[in-house]
Amino acid sequence: MGSLKVCVLFLSLCAGVLSCDLTSSPEVVLQRTDLAAYITNKKATINPQYRLLYHVAPPVGWMNDPNGFAYFKGEYHLFYQFYPYNSSLGGPTGMHWGHSSSANLVDWTEHPTALIPGKEQIFSGSGIEISGTLVLMYTGHINAPEHSGLADTEAQYLAFSNDGIVFNKYKNNPVIAKSPNGSPDFRDPKVWKYGDYYYVVLGSKTEEGYGRVLLYRSEDMATWTFLNTIGQPSSRMGYMWECPDFFQLGNKFILLMSPQGLAPEGDRYKNLYQTGYIIGDFSYQTNQFVEQVPFQEIDYGHDFYATQTTERDGKRYLIAWFGMWNTTFPEAADGWAGAMTIFRELTLSGNRILMKPVSTITSLRESSAFNGNLAQNAFIELNKTGEINLSGDLSQAIDLDIKGAEGGDIRIRWNATTKIVSVDRDDAGERNIRQGPWTPVGSTSWRIFLDASSMELFCGEGEVVFSSRVYPTGQWVITNLSAQTLTVSAYRLRKSV
Ligand SMILES: *[C@@H]1O[C@H](CO)[C@@H](O)[C@H](O)[C@H]1NC(C)=O
Ligand SMILES: *[C@@H]1O[C@H](CO)[C@@H](O)[C@H](O)[C@H]1NC(C)=O
Ligand SMILES: *[C@@H]1O[C@H](CO)[C@@H](O)[C@H](O)[C@H]1NC(C)=O
Ligand SMILES: *[C@@H]1O[C@H](CO)[C@@H](O)[C@H](O)[C@H]1NC(C)=O
Ligand SMILES: *[C@@H]1O[C@H](CO)[C@@H](O)[C@H](O)[C@H]1NC(C)=O
Ligand SMILES: *[C@@H]1O[C@H](CO)[C@@H](O)[C@H](O)[C@H]1NC(C)=O
Repeated sequence: MGSLKVCVLFLSLCAGVLSCDLTSSPEVVLQRTDLAAYITNKKATINPQYRLLYHVAPPVGWMNDPNGFAYFKGEYHLFYQFYPYNSSLGGPTGMHWGHSSSANLVDWTEHPTALIPGKEQIFSGSGIEISGTLVLMYTGHINAPEHSGLADTEAQYLAFSNDGIVFNKYKNNPVIAKSPNGSPDFRDPKVWKYGDYYYVVLGSKTEEGYGRVLLYRSEDMATWTFLNTIGQPSSRMGYMWECPDFFQLGNKFILLMSPQGLAPEGDRYKNLYQTGYIIGDFSYQTNQFVEQVPFQEIDYGHDFYATQTTERDGKRYLIAWFGMWNTTFPEAADGWAGAMTIFRELTLSGNRILMKPVSTITSLRESSAFNGNLAQNAFIELNKTGEINLSGDLSQAIDLDIKGAEGGDIRIRWNATTKIVSVDRDDAGERNIRQGPWTPVGSTSWRIFLDASSMELFCGEGEVVFSSRVYPTGQWVITNLSAQTLTVSAYRLRKSV
């Protein structure tokens, strides 16, 4: 099939929808206007104490998974699971897609809510630019009638926009109505193009109730053929694989996903759910993925889930929900809850993905807060935001206390004997530790990003990363508790959201 024909097929699909755009129903227009007014009014009542200054977060209400991360007409577009009416996840009442965009992955502009639920809730999905149209593919989740004993249903839907702001749903939704084995868990489509075809991976389940990923192909985005499964389901790999992503990195293929139901193993899998990746080889001729390196977590922090990536100019960028399903979000009492991590760039190094902050993030540096040797019990004061670049002698321990001047702290340590980095958070008097082994492949410094209620630690070239929400009272204070001199440069960061 030639690419011309693909294009024509797509345009004929799209043309029908675009004619719909012109006649958006008065109900939908009213819904959009009412919701925008609600958000504006509610926003004015938000308590800003924990409001993040350079992380994307919902204007009001609840946020979880990133969605539709794609480049379109000169900007990166980021959508997200959004429930405007309740910051405590209002339950099964109607997930929306919130929307922001950015030219540089650092400065973000908020847009009107992109998708409002109808009969179906708008669960997670992805985005792709096709011939000047931003096409979103999402899971339409329909709740079974209460007390019916029936399972909820999930199917895959499309929506379109020509301007990247106003989206309309495809009139012939859904485009994939059912999973091949009838499993009602069938969600989070991640779409990409290769050669003349569109491909999509979806999270689902085997008959035994193990997580698996399904691969489909289409010529026109409307008619999809199931090709194969990607990855090997097993009892050890959990009961559901959410938010799959599948892409080439270096000369390997990466299956990135968020499995649910992994049993804790020592320092691994301590969060309720995980996010990680399997490295292997894949052939578009046979559609076979051959696993080579088993599942590894991509981030060791307390609050990290449901990643999404997009590729541009040969670079692979990642974003994740800076949250976890069973944690409490203190900011919920302030009228909002949940956030995105900072954006990261991925590269492959041997058997591990390196994850670094995007290079443009240095544009956040507003002023220098410290530059030199951090002396005994010396501290750095940072107000609400900071970037700290720190290095020490890795043959000795490093111990750093990061706390709010009036409470709330997180401790970062390097154990030179075990070669383990740990991030130890005070959760209402209980120490809550995450840790992982670190073998530097290049740089031996740490980069720490602090925002009004978050901490992200990148070790070396991004071999080991921790993302954790933390809620300080008062400004950030960083204290050297190590028995060695640390070389530190620290910056105050500006607001970018
Ligand atoms: C928000 O959700 C919580 C938990 O589901 C519920 O207790 C509360 O009443 C809801 N608030 C509003 C304003 O709907
Ligand atoms: C969340 O789940 C993890 C892993 O099961 C558990 O260790 C932790 O105690 C849970 N947290 C809460 C607040 O329930
Ligand atoms: C950090 O503090 C330790 C003792 O707490 C001290 O021995 C060390 O010299 C300090 N680091 C620097 C850079 O001075
Ligand atoms: C801290 O930041 C707030 C606004 O974000 C500003 O009003 C205040 O002056 C800053 N404090 C210091 C000590 O810089
Ligand atoms: C961090 O500091 C080291 C020197 O200690 C320097 O080589 C490196 O470029 C700095 N990294 C960043 C991102 O500023
Ligand atoms: C490093 O880890 C070992 C083994 O858990 C422990 O005995 C030792 O006290 C740790 N060192 C520091 C400085 O915490």
